[in-house]
Amino acid sequence: MNEIIYITGVSKGLGKEMAMLFLDKGHRVVGIGRSHDISHDKFEFISCDLADLDQVKAIAFDHHSPAVLINNAGLIGPLNRFLDASVSSSLDVLTVNTLAVMQLTHAFLANTEQKRTVVTISSGAATRSIPGWAAYCASKAAVDRFMETVQLECDEKGWPHRLFSASPGVIDTPMQEAIRSANPTEFSSLTTFIGLNENNELQSPEEIAQKVASLIANQSNYPCLLHLRDVVD
Ligand SMILES: NC(=O)c1ccc[n+]([C@@H]2O[C@H](COP(=O)([O-])OP(=O)(O)OC[C@H]3O[C@@H](n4cnc5c(N)ncnc54)[C@H](OP(=O)(O)O)[C@@H]3O)[C@@H](O)[C@H]2O)c1
Repeated sequence: MNEIIYITGVSKGLGKEMAMLFLDKGHRVVGIGRSHDISHDKFEFISCDLADLDQVKAIAFDHHSPAVLINNAGLIGPLNRFLDASVSSSLDVLTVNTLAVMQLTHAFLANTEQKRTVVTISSGAATRSIPGWAAYCASKAAVDRFMETVQLECDEKGWPHRLFSASPGVIDTPMQEAIRSANPTEFSSLTTFIGLNENNELQSPEEIAQKVASLIANQSNYPCLLHLRDVVD
């Protein structure tokens, strides 16, 4: 039987592309987020603002069926220097990118006997500090450490779950459009991101969605922390 695929953030970008791919492959897909425009008889939607942890805590997973959780939803946040902005403008970034991931991963893995898989979409920003992205870099670095630590804990206990924190590289999604609209005086890497787009160096969401599907299908070949370019289709 095909697993249920839970995906956060299916309104656009990579999340929507992954939802469509897994539906095409015959999976039941459950989207979690604020909105969507997917119409398919195997698609269900749980409405949730991931920046509101009370809403996140209310999410219940099916513990009886084989299932995969893809923590995809992400927020780049304010594209300016941390000391020039209010701290509060960064808090949603940590909540959506890190705290919601922790809450959902716990709800998905705790109290189930079944082997389960969790893939969190990380970023190169987890290991590279980019001025203007302090909260985003911190949130993705935290997610990498979180996913790897929980994997080690599962291994210690002999729990069969697999956890992955997968860095996708630069993808042609609305998030990149938002990055390119930053103020050049506040975001010093702006020309780099404009150049990547002008030189057609962005990867398509379709190819990255396929990489995630290949990772899930061949997970014994890969470590917890990985770059999706290393996944063989
Ligand atoms: N694009 C890249 O180059 C790139 C590179 C490295 C890593 N990533 C990571 O890849 C993942 C997908 O990014 P993307 O490029 O597809 O981004 P995107 O186009 O901006 O889409 C982000 C998704 O997250 C959802 N989301 C954001 N805040 C939310 C909230 N409070 N509650 C519920 N859903 C929320 C959005 O839903 P709404 O429509 O409701 O806002 C949307 O569905 C993210 O984790 C991102 O950090 C992207």
